[in-house]
Amino acid sequence: MILHFYHCPICGNIIVKVHDGGPTPVCCGSEMRPLVPKREEEYKEKHLPVVKRCDHYTFEVEVGSVPHPMTDEHHIEFICVQTENETIVRHLSPGDDPVSLFVCDSAPQAVYAFCNRHGLWMTETIEDIRCETKKKCKR
Ligand SMILES: [Fe+2]
Repeated sequence: MILHFYHCPICGNIIVKVHDGGPTPVCCGSEMRPLVPKREEEYKEKHLPVVKRCDHYTFEVEVGSVPHPMTDEHHIEFICVQTENETIVRHLSPGDDPVSLFVCDSAPQAVYAFCNRHGLWMTETIEDIRCETKKKCKR
C-alpha cells in the first residue's frame, strides 16, 4: 500500500491516510494538498533517508547521506517507516540528530522524511548491512 500524505497550506496540518477511502481530506474549509514524495530532486543528499538493517527487526534511518541540519529554522519534523503491516511515525526536534532506530515486524517497504523547508522525501532502498554506528539514535 502506498501512503498518501496531505497538508493544509492555511494551518500547516499534515495528515497521512492509513486507509484510502477515496475523497480528499478537507481542512480549514478547503481540500488538503497532496504531499508528493521527492526522490531525485536537488538536495537529495541531505533529504533521502538512508536505511540500514541493524538486526532482524531493527532498522536505522538516517536522513541524508550528508546529515540534514536540525536547527529551529530548518529541520526534519518526522520520519515515517512503512512495512507490510505497520506505519510508524517518529517525531524529531531541533537539536536531535537526524537519525532514529525503528523496531519493525518486517523490513520497511518505504521510508519517508519530512523537512520543514523542503517537503516530503521517500526511499524504498534498504541497505542490508549491519549497522555499526554509535550515533545518538532516538528510539
Ligand atoms: Fe531540508
